[in-house]
Amino acid sequence: MNEPKVSGLCGYGLEVPELAVAQRFYQTFGLQVRSSGSALLLACPGRGDAEIVVTTAREKRLHHVSFFIAPGTESAFADKLRRAGLDVAESAPPGGARDGLWFRDPWGTWINLNPAPASAVQVVELPASNLGGRTERVDVNLWQKLDKQRPPMRIGHLLIFTHEWEKAEAFFTGVLGLRTTDRAKGKVAFMAAGEGVIDHHCFGLINGTHRGFQHASFQVASFDDLGYGAWRMRAAGYRDAFGPGRHAIASNLFHYTRDPWGSWVEYYADMDKISERWHCRDWESLPYTWGPEWSPEFWSGEMNANLEPRS
Ligand SMILES: [Fe+2]
Repeated sequence: MNEPKVSGLCGYGLEVPELAVAQRFYQTFGLQVRSSGSALLLACPGRGDAEIVVTTAREKRLHHVSFFIAPGTESAFADKLRRAGLDVAESAPPGGARDGLWFRDPWGTWINLNPAPASAVQVVELPASNLGGRTERVDVNLWQKLDKQRPPMRIGHLLIFTHEWEKAEAFFTGVLGLRTTDRAKGKVAFMAAGEGVIDHHCFGLINGTHRGFQHASFQVASFDDLGYGAWRMRAAGYRDAFGPGRHAIASNLFHYTRDPWGSWVEYYADMDKISERWHCRDWESLPYTWGPEWSPEFWSGEMNANLEPRS
C-alpha cells in the first residue's frame, strides 16, 4: 500500500490572551463565528470545518495545524506516525476542539489529521471586464455592481517559522507526505498537498530563530475583493498592512494585515495551480514581481521577535 499522505490544509489553532479581540479581528476579516465560549470556532461562510480554533492563554501562540487526510487512512497514518516515534492520540488535547488523530511534531506544535474530504470551492461569477483590450462591459457602471462585502472563500495556506529548517522540511514531507514545490534557499520552503491539479502551496516553512506563526492566508474571488477586504480592515483600525502586490513564487495577488498579536493574515487570489508534472526549483534569492517595498522585517529581523516560547 502507498504511504498515507495529508490531502490538504484544514486550518489551525491559535492561543491568544483575549477571545473578544480575536473575534472582532477575524469577523472584520470576513470569517463567521461557528461557536464561542471557551473556544472560538471560525470559518469562511459555507465551509464544513472550523478553519481557526481560538482559545485563551497568557501569550499568543500557534496551538496546532490541522490537515485533511482521506477517510479510512487513519490507522495507516497512526502506524506510520508511531513508527516515526510519535505519540498518537485519538482525542483532542485541551484547546484542540477537532476530531481525528493528534500528535505533537518534534518542536512541540500539535498536529491534527482530520479524516474528511475538503469541500470544493464554490465558483463565483465575476463581472465582465474591459481588461486586455476587450470590450465586454458596455453601458454598465461596474462600481455599482461590485459586491463590496463578499467574504473570503476558504483558508488556502499557512506559513510558520522554524529554527530547524532542513529538519522541519524533512519531517513535513517525509512523515506527513507534503511535497515541496518551490524553495528559496535558506529562507522558505513552500509545500503542496493532494492529488491532481492543486494549489501551488498549502503550507510553508520559513527559516527563523524561533518557532512561530507567520501568516495564514484566505482565498478571495477577485482583485476587487482583495481591495475591499483591505479597505474594511483599515476602516476598522487594523492599519498595519503590506500590499497589495503580486508574489513571484506562486504568482498570487496578495494583501496582508497584521493581526493584534504580531502575525499576519493575508487575502490572496489567482494563485498558480500545479499538477504532478510540476518540478520544485531552488531559488538563490526570494524573487519578487511588484508591490510595496520588500521590508526586511517581513521575512526576518523583527518578524522573529514574534517568538512563541515552547514548554
Ligand atoms: Fe501567503
